[in-house]
Amino acid sequence: MSTAIDELETGATSAISAATTSAALEDVRVAVLGRSAPLTLQLREIGQLPPAERGAAGKRLNDVRVRLEAALTTRSEHVAGLELEQRLMAERVDVTLPGAPVPSGGLHVLTQVRRQLEDIFVGLGYTVAEGPEIELEHYNFTALNIPDGHPAKGETDTLWVGPGVCLRTHTSPVQARTMVAQEPPVYVICPGRVYRRDTPDATHSPIFHQIEGLVVDRGITLADLKGTLQYVARRLFGDGREIRLRTSYFPFTEPSVELDVSCFLCGGAGCGVCKGSGWIEMLGAGVVDPNVLTIAGYDPEVWSGFAFGMGIERIAFLKHGFPDLRLLYENDLRFLEQFPA
Ligand code: DAH
Repeated sequence: MSTAIDELETGATSAISAATTSAALEDVRVAVLGRSAPLTLQLREIGQLPPAERGAAGKRLNDVRVRLEAALTTRSEHVAGLELEQRLMAERVDVTLPGAPVPSGGLHVLTQVRRQLEDIFVGLGYTVAEGPEIELEHYNFTALNIPDGHPAKGETDTLWVGPGVCLRTHTSPVQARTMVAQEPPVYVICPGRVYRRDTPDATHSPIFHQIEGLVVDRGITLADLKGTLQYVARRLFGDGREIRLRTSYFPFTEPSVELDVSCFLCGGAGCGVCKGSGWIEMLGAGVVDPNVLTIAGYDPEVWSGFAFGMGIERIAFLKHGFPDLRLLYENDLRFLEQFPA
């Protein structure tokens, strides 16, 4: 019996020291000291031994049990230490690793161009005004001297919301609203979204953006318009830029002009961008028609002014030369990332 117990103890002791996880050690504990472990069974059977042998056998088995319990306790402390170490290794944070990059957003190229234009005009003393995108026929047309039969009022160009109400087709109604709201002098720009019944293609979008400008003061002439826009064109496209005015027609200005800027690509010699002419069309403008002043309640004998309207998409296109207007609205990061703000 004594050899068998020795073997049992040796086997149990090496099983205990072989366990490297607390789960494995628990299995060993059940196998060595559990209710059906050989040692437990033998302890239970002591009563059946001859009385003379019981004391020695019981002590012997009990000593083994006590030693194995002690070995289990020691081992379990050791294994707990091992496991803690492993966990710390696995969960370790290496503070020297580079951080995971957090992509940061930027300003859309249209927003950049709008803000640049705003900065230029605010630097000249203009204020920025906004108006509603759902506009009354009165401000979108009538107050701008656009007569009833004008083709721009027809279904083909204008998106009508209801009788007398449309999505504004330009930012010019904000000049009419501004004049009603305040007394001259006026130095204002009005950026915003406009809508037209257009099928999207490389150069058309049913929704686009404009910046309207309006100046009303004493003694304002076409020369003021020209000087102002030459300054703006140079700020936008570079110091060497020249401008030229071509006669045009808008119902709300008299005279009306279209403004060209000398081609920033070829410098005026003629290239693909300016279609060989050396000039690029930039905006429409003119001297505010006296009718428009009168409708707004300004006395055209005292006040005069100039106005202009430009497409923000067009300015962005002229600055950056992308091939298709629709790129501006598709939010493809491969496009937008080319214009870091
Ligand atoms: N509203 C015009 C358009 O959408 C642009 C424009 C032309 C605005 C001449 C003006 C102006 O203020 O004077 O095409």
